[in-house]
Amino acid sequence: MQEKLNELISRAREEVAAVKTRPQFEAFKAAYVGPRGSLTALMKTLGQLPKEERPAAGRLINEAKQQVQAILDEALAAIERAELEARLGPPIDPTLPTPDPLPGNRHPITLVRDEICRILARLGFTVREGPEIETEYYCFDALCTPAEHPARDTQDTYYLPREVRFGNVSRKNPDERYLMRTHTSSVQIRTLLAEKPPVRILSPGRVFRRDTADATHSANFHQIEGLVVDRGITVCDLKATLDYLFQSLLGKEARTRFRPHYFGYTEPSFEVDFSAAHLKKLGREWVEIMGCGMVDPAVLEEVGLDPEEWSGFAFGLGVERIAMTLYGVEDIRNFYTNDVRFLRQFA
Ligand code: DAH
Repeated sequence: MQEKLNELISRAREEVAAVKTRPQFEAFKAAYVGPRGSLTALMKTLGQLPKEERPAAGRLINEAKQQVQAILDEALAAIERAELEARLGPPIDPTLPTPDPLPGNRHPITLVRDEICRILARLGFTVREGPEIETEYYCFDALCTPAEHPARDTQDTYYLPREVRFGNVSRKNPDERYLMRTHTSSVQIRTLLAEKPPVRILSPGRVFRRDTADATHSANFHQIEGLVVDRGITVCDLKATLDYLFQSLLGKEARTRFRPHYFGYTEPSFEVDFSAAHLKKLGREWVEIMGCGMVDPAVLEEVGLDPEEWSGFAFGLGVERIAMTLYGVEDIRNFYTNDVRFLRQFA
């Protein structure tokens, strides 16, 4: 018995070297301790031994069983280690310095904003920024949109509680409320109260509306406001400025079209559509893009300018909308979800 067991164990030690995978392990285990295994077979011979030899033989078999079990345990542990290593990949050197982060790239909204500012800078426009938290005066009242005016309703949006104070956002009236600005037009007033004409400014920035998000709406988006106040400014200057902008952005064939509209702070007011070569291929000839008009004399008076001496034009465009038509982006939400697979396309 002893001999047979020794032989069995040394065979197991030899064979285990070739056991590398779970199926091999199962087959190996079955060959020794399975119902038809060689150790099982030896155990079955116990009954045929004379009674007095059985206890000693039983002990030997038990020892052998333990040894086989140890071989099995070690083989299984080795397989598990190998599986883990395969999952972890090649060893790393944790003492190496962190790799440089991938170079970033500008967000498409930033790209379009900067491009528009660069184009209009050639015409002498400079940038003025205003606060995202605004007061009712700069956002509405000074722009001839008093509290009871229907045009205000569509922009009556995110007001801050009355008791909130922002020391860095000036108020015209001590008890007026703060709100998240609904458009960048408020910067027209802030600029005209601070600077004497001639004024030729752009004001890019974020605005907030009570809009439910869908493919073309977002509760926050970006605008660029334009304002020119000087002597002898006419609709002709406005049209020429916008034509120059769209031709620079979209190519020489780009055109703009004015449709009459209402804005409280311009008179006359227009909505602007543009057309460009690539739009025709998409089956859309004209795309509505912005609002504009001649600065209302009442606005000039509000900021202490004589409308007989000064005139001007203003416009406000949506940056997302231009970015969407320029890049063929179909859902505005892509701009805000920060999926790098989307953002890297603009590198
Ligand atoms: N503030 C308008 C809006 O948010 C856009 C606009 C229209 C701006 C006409 C202007 C303008 O300066 O003259 O919808």
